[in-house]
Amino acid sequence: MDGRDLVRSIRVVGSVGAFQGLRAVRAAWRRRRADATALPPRGAERARVPGRVLEVEPAAGGGVVRFGRSELRIMVTVNGAVFWGWDGAGPEPSYALAGRCPEPDLRAVLEPDKDGGWRVVAERVTVVVSRHGAVEVRTPGGVTLRRDLPPRWWEPVGGGPARWMQRSEVAADARFFGLGGRSSGPRLREGTYRLWNTDPGGSFAPGDDPLYITMPVQMVVSDAATHLVFHDSSWDGTVSLREGEEGAGSGHDRPGMSELRMDGGPLRCWVMVGTPARVLLAWASLTGAPALPPAWALGHHHARWGFGSEQEVRRIVAGYQERGLPLDAVHLDIDHYDEHQVFTVDHERFPKLPVLAEELRRDGIRLVSIVDPAVSAEEGDVVYDGGTAEDAFVRDASGRVVHGVAWPGEAVFPDFTHARVREWWGGLYAERLAQGFSGFWHDMNEPTSFTAFGEKTLPRSARHSLEGRGGDHQEAHNVYGLCMARAGYEGLLELAPHERPFLFSRSGWAGLQRYGGTWSGDVATGWPGLRASLSLVLGLSLCGVPYSGPDIGGFDGSPSPELYLRWFQLGAYLPLFRTHAGLRGGRREPWEFGPEVLEHARVALEERRRLLPYLMTLAHLARRTGAPYVRPLWWNAPEDRALRDCEDAFLLGDCLLVAPVLDPGTDRRAVQLPRGRWYDAVSEQVYEGPAQVLVDAPLSRIPVLVRAGAVLPVRGSDGGLELEAWAPAQSRTGGGLVVPDAGDGWDEPELERYVTRWQGPGLVVELEGEGGPSEPPCPVRVRGLGEAGAQT
Ligand code: NOJ
Repeated sequence: MDGRDLVRSIRVVGSVGAFQGLRAVRAAWRRRRADATALPPRGAERARVPGRVLEVEPAAGGGVVRFGRSELRIMVTVNGAVFWGWDGAGPEPSYALAGRCPEPDLRAVLEPDKDGGWRVVAERVTVVVSRHGAVEVRTPGGVTLRRDLPPRWWEPVGGGPARWMQRSEVAADARFFGLGGRSSGPRLREGTYRLWNTDPGGSFAPGDDPLYITMPVQMVVSDAATHLVFHDSSWDGTVSLREGEEGAGSGHDRPGMSELRMDGGPLRCWVMVGTPARVLLAWASLTGAPALPPAWALGHHHARWGFGSEQEVRRIVAGYQERGLPLDAVHLDIDHYDEHQVFTVDHERFPKLPVLAEELRRDGIRLVSIVDPAVSAEEGDVVYDGGTAEDAFVRDASGRVVHGVAWPGEAVFPDFTHARVREWWGGLYAERLAQGFSGFWHDMNEPTSFTAFGEKTLPRSARHSLEGRGGDHQEAHNVYGLCMARAGYEGLLELAPHERPFLFSRSGWAGLQRYGGTWSGDVATGWPGLRASLSLVLGLSLCGVPYSGPDIGGFDGSPSPELYLRWFQLGAYLPLFRTHAGLRGGRREPWEFGPEVLEHARVALEERRRLLPYLMTLAHLARRTGAPYVRPLWWNAPEDRALRDCEDAFLLGDCLLVAPVLDPGTDRRAVQLPRGRWYDAVSEQVYEGPAQVLVDAPLSRIPVLVRAGAVLPVRGSDGGLELEAWAPAQSRTGGGLVVPDAGDGWDEPELERYVTRWQGPGLVVELEGEGGPSEPPCPVRVRGLGEAGAQT
């Protein structure tokens, strides 16, 4: 963007801003009025607890336990997950579930327990229900993983949704993770976390809560086992957490505590127990396998709000090409729309978008389009008129279409909780495909509606279809982005059936991974923002959404060269590797920070390109097993407490440990190593874990360690597949998985399994097959042989 364009954009936003201000005041009043009429303040309430147990009724997978004032349905399913629901709540309907609820495990039995309680005994878990309605989940060895105390409801005397509260205790040594994308984590410390998807406005830093994706999903890790707990209600609520304290052998441990308070919705919950990998496998089987991104989406993306014109896009692309820097995708933000209206193009500034897209595609670069849900309420506009004809827009309790304020001004919002509306919306991507876009970036879908005061979203009383059941925004709000993602994904499947859809969405809920990924949103430029970036990616990974990444350099402001570089180096090892900045943010091109940064960024870009086959393999493994690309260090050793508390490094798949630099002025950093031998990926220096080691972290690179014995698929210098095999420790073996897929279609490449083993002084790398081991079909480079110089 040249200076004039920038001034123009700012002027446009400025003038829109003045109108927006007025509109936002009007919208805020409208919202307040709508809610005041349709949602009268809560009057007198009656509190209720389950009461005493009366009788039981066995059923497949468990049964029903009846209490004086409620009943509890328990079911263990074939994937080993436990479901329970109070007041007759069953697993369906649910926006989180991928399809039908899994079948009950017929081997699970309901039997009497001591003191008048009951228990369901299954292969991997025992659920014990006390006579007052406390529910305990125990390992088969009898260790209690969580104890949910009898819940409490508050029912409005005049009728209406009941609020409820569920307090739970976990082991004193337990650590909490998850709850969606949180800025201060990944380990969630004492505090109250809100469950209401929210655009924080401006930019956010660690501690700002809630953000765009909240989920009532907790991963709880303790010495005894890991478990995931999901309270399947999409209503507004809070989770208060307090880590426990161990009594140092005194026998007086203070348990960890989680208290969930919800404004409504069913009180039902799923619990999955096992290793982290097992738990996420069960979670993926329940809520859906992560969508497989096309290969190009694992490359480097460059975005900015305010390219402003085709010339500027060409200038940026040329900047990458002239310097020989890899680039795989360019994202166009709302400034390429006509008057900020979704599914349109500003033909003055982007006169030949399909031509530009075609040119870029020839150079291996894809165009990605932002897609906002808000539709300008302008008669004569194709999208607005089409939506009106479909009766697609959210209405208020009195039947009027709800008007809010978004980038195009006065706006209306599709009700994505209606199948017909999703189908209509999905069809609109035909216009985007015709413009040459290959990927989609869903934004502002909390949904955000600008207001002068109060909540920046739709009125809580706004009506939604909720798949025909009918309900209001209190229930639909948190699943709005999820349903928009479904609309886009399913539309793209129809429109371009031979390509894997690529979309990522700012907002979402449990199950978002079925349709795509997400990104950090507007993370503040600054070292704390860099730290928050990693926390978000890890937290989301543990909630089953494996594909995400931050705005490299932060959304606002201008990062120092050092901060930009460290962010870039971290981003190169995250699934979504994208530079982005807001309209008023400074430059984000790698060459804008001086020659030294440029050369170091080049190394990161080239390494990313080299690792593409590995990342593609991880994407396939995520889809097949639910295991995220980015994993906490405790992934294979949740019992290792030092790892459990380590928040500044992560595993990328099974082979790599990445230790980003998150503080200025660093040239060495401590790394907490999991068990086993590790090599520095560059110097090949050997480290033995478990240990805390100091490693070099010069400005030129962040420390990356490779697990001894690992076999990584990488891109060779000729572009072909190569294997990088790292020597296992003497007398040990190793191996790695490869899914050879460089495409964007639906072929199911077969998983290849390689093994490494010593044969005398030489290292052998073989492909395992049904007919026995064979030679790898591609070149193998052996590393980590050190001075000994053993042979392959
Ligand atoms: C908010 C998004 O988070 C940001 O990435 C985008 O640039 C702006 N909206 C403008 O579309």
